[in-house]
Amino acid sequence: MKFSSVVFSALLASVASAGPIFRRQHNSTQGQDQRSGTAMSAPNGRAVGAAFFITNEPNGNQLIAADIGADGRLTLRRAIDTGGLGAHGITNPNGPDPLFSQGAVKASATGRIVAVVNAGSNTLSVFRINPNDPTDVRQIGKPVGSGGEFPVSLAINNAGNIVCSLNGGEVNSVSCFKVDQQRGLVPIANSNRSLRLHQTTPATGPAGSASHVVFSEDNRQLIASVKGVPPQPGFLAVWDVRNDGSLSQDFRAIAPARGGLLPFSMTVIPGKNAILATDAGLGFSIFDFAEQAGNGNGNATSVAAGRSSAFAINGQDATCWSSFSPKTNNFYLTDIGTAIVTEINIDNNLKGTIVKQYPQGRGSGTIDNDIATVGDNDFMYVLSANATRIDVLSLNGPGQARNIQQLDIAGPARASGINIDANNLQGMATFITK
Ligand SMILES: *[C@@H]1O[C@H](CO)[C@@H](O)[C@H](O)[C@H]1NC(C)=O
Ligand SMILES: *[C@@H]1O[C@H](CO)[C@@H](O)[C@H](O)[C@H]1NC(C)=O
Ligand SMILES: *[C@@H]1O[C@H](CO)[C@@H](O)[C@H](O)[C@H]1NC(C)=O
Ligand SMILES: *[C@@H]1O[C@H](CO)[C@@H](O)[C@H](O)[C@H]1NC(C)=O
Repeated sequence: MKFSSVVFSALLASVASAGPIFRRQHNSTQGQDQRSGTAMSAPNGRAVGAAFFITNEPNGNQLIAADIGADGRLTLRRAIDTGGLGAHGITNPNGPDPLFSQGAVKASATGRIVAVVNAGSNTLSVFRINPNDPTDVRQIGKPVGSGGEFPVSLAINNAGNIVCSLNGGEVNSVSCFKVDQQRGLVPIANSNRSLRLHQTTPATGPAGSASHVVFSEDNRQLIASVKGVPPQPGFLAVWDVRNDGSLSQDFRAIAPARGGLLPFSMTVIPGKNAILATDAGLGFSIFDFAEQAGNGNGNATSVAAGRSSAFAINGQDATCWSSFSPKTNNFYLTDIGTAIVTEINIDNNLKGTIVKQYPQGRGSGTIDNDIATVGDNDFMYVLSANATRIDVLSLNGPGQARNIQQLDIAGPARASGINIDANNLQGMATFITK
């Protein structure tokens, strides 16, 4: 919550030179709103939504919020204390993607909330979003225990009133919470389920670490992904979600089709009862749930069957994050090593093809991404962590993505006294005002 008048002048200068100037008032206190965090810049026109990520700093985690304009472009606006601590997993060499995960930040348009993991304090924080000014978020209640250690990922149900965490540390589990508008996250009985991994706190990875948690499209299953330790493939752990939000006792473990190794992010394939899971060791895998044999014993691992497959992206290094665009009907995958966005089409028979690849600049370390629909266009927001930048792509049609903005994070953070480190940044979640 630091904000000096010198810094404010610098910000004003940068805002003024950045684009159209709107008439607004400034005084020495306006930049700092105690309740909604440190201001990073003044409003720059009407925002239609927000993009969120976390600093994940070990001495204090902050939620960074950027306006999404009607043209899809971002303006960094606020940094909000989460009340928890960040952490970096144990890995060699050290680098970006500290939690080895997708989903460290998750937003819900129906619930009007955004939730984050605090991996260093084993807690979760949830915030109410002001729909009239979507970067204006207020924490609901206090951070709550995540139900395990080293929380790395969150899933929110369609109704926006249940949040589930994936814990990847020595105490590894999934755990679900009701969203209470006064108290915040309230644990749901019988929803705290062990993953039975042999792990450490902080987690050791990326091999063998927990990756991502999602709800199935019908919200009747909760699915967590776990990377393998080559040559041993990883798996998806699947629990049934009961009406009261509790989970089945044991999970079903499903290994990827032959060739799959390190299941990472999971993106639901709409209308197919199937999931596209990126695979850091290969490209991606398709998990066809329609023909999964029901096997309620969490120890036994069945191999993905039906129209499941494993797909190699030639020249890939570590394809780990993914999102779906309703407009183009295609999937967009990011690779931290090559810094390439790969657009994938999945046909009616769940067969994948590469539509096009979009290099974002070697060394930029493209990690988490999300896609938002603004008006009649879709936009992709990529956290290019190693370059402390967000790359914005306009998804104009299948095979027609175009880079429209490179948003620097380091400069504005420094100017506002916000601690960031390229190796600690994580998460990308968008919220669009309905
Ligand atoms: C300064 O900003 C604060 C917070 O926005 C506002 O309440 C106050 O009226 C402003 N003062 C002046 C003199 O504009
Ligand atoms: C959840 O389960 C873990 C063991 O997997 C246990 O250590 C922890 O205390 C449980 N948390 C809650 C909130 O029940
Ligand atoms: C499943 O794993 C648990 C704990 O690792 C063990 O006690 C149990 O015997 C196993 N059950 C089967 C059927 O393998
Ligand atoms: C990050 O940048 C450094 C140089 O600034 C480079 O050595 C390193 O390979 C990059 N890492 C990734 C994952 O791109």
